[in-house]
Amino acid sequence: MNQEQKSISVVVNGFGGYDVLSVEDFELLSLADNIQVKVEYGALNFADLYTRKGFMPNKKAPFILGIECTGVVTKIGNIKNSKFKVGQRVICYDFNGGLYREILHINPMSCFLLPDSIDTKLGATIFVNYLTAYLSLINIGNLRENESVLILSCTGGVGSAAVQISKTINGVKVFGTGSKIKETFAKENGVDTFYCIETFSDEVQDQKFDLIISNESGAMFTFLQSLLKPLGRIILLGANNMLQPAQNTDSLKTDCDSVSLMSLLINNRIVAGLHLGILLATDPEKVHTILEHIFKLIEQKKLNPVIHSVWKVSEIVEATKLLEDRKNVGKVLIKISK
Ligand SMILES: NC(=O)c1ccc[n+]([C@@H]2O[C@H](COP(=O)([O-])OP(=O)(O)OC[C@H]3O[C@@H](n4cnc5c(N)ncnc54)[C@H](OP(=O)(O)O)[C@@H]3O)[C@@H](O)[C@H]2O)c1
Repeated sequence: MNQEQKSISVVVNGFGGYDVLSVEDFELLSLADNIQVKVEYGALNFADLYTRKGFMPNKKAPFILGIECTGVVTKIGNIKNSKFKVGQRVICYDFNGGLYREILHINPMSCFLLPDSIDTKLGATIFVNYLTAYLSLINIGNLRENESVLILSCTGGVGSAAVQISKTINGVKVFGTGSKIKETFAKENGVDTFYCIETFSDEVQDQKFDLIISNESGAMFTFLQSLLKPLGRIILLGANNMLQPAQNTDSLKTDCDSVSLMSLLINNRIVAGLHLGILLATDPEKVHTILEHIFKLIEQKKLNPVIHSVWKVSEIVEATKLLEDRKNVGKVLIKISK
């Protein structure tokens, strides 16, 4: 096999700890109906942790990690009237993974043109974080002037984007949780009231919210519902609690207990969920329209994506540890090609 058919990649060789990760040559998909992208930045997501630990159904190792990256189009496969041209800069997103690699052959449906004003480094911070935050707050959560919103892990990738989007609406009061060490950053980014995650449950008791964005399922999700005002909304984005020792996907199966239908009825509550990848597959037009709007807000400096740090691809373990050890504020990136 010649070198053209392989590319340096972040490979998951089994399910478990950091030792299952390696950086090595891995076979390319055929170019066929795909486009070729020279990847510049990979963007880390919490989903990478779930995936490495084996919480994603139907994944068989070895496979390539990474759901989000940016780069430059270098070849077009066998596509009539391709919407992309060689030399254009794109965001790539595929929630099935496979994107942390130097050369990528990818379905053009999974690629999004970057505007001239946004470089590939900044571009790598946008897709997952800002779309997830925008769809939850605005499309599902219907956040309105002078309302209050509680954002869990408010300094993470999605969390910090959600704080900024909330602050584009007049009079919205933003409450957020996080590790104590992140309080200063949270306030600088727009959080009005910060709860240290360890003491949150005690401190928050008397407070009620119009909207809550949760990255926790299980008992915490049940508790959070009790903090909603009448006609309050809560949106489930993730299940970080799955990463606790002794947790596994079975914890999701018991999650049907965390929402009581009777309780929704008698408390006038709205419980919702969002899965960005599945929304993109089922309603790509909606996602495209919102992405264009987000690009404009960034160009107008109404949103300011936060990059925590940039690592070499060979440092994938150190970069991943930041998320798992709760150390990042904003987005962690890996620089893939020179
Ligand atoms: N549904 C969707 O379509 C969608 C899309 C994107 C992301 N998400 C979800 O949104 C959440 C945030 O994702 P992200 O990529 O932006 O990650 P992130 O927030 O940048 O990174 C992780 C942060 O989560 C907090 N955390 C809470 N429990 C944790 C645990 N058990 N282990 C490690 N960290 C924990 C930590 O912040 P503190 O210590 O400050 O709490 C940590 O810094 C995740 O649950 C992710 O799965 C969902």
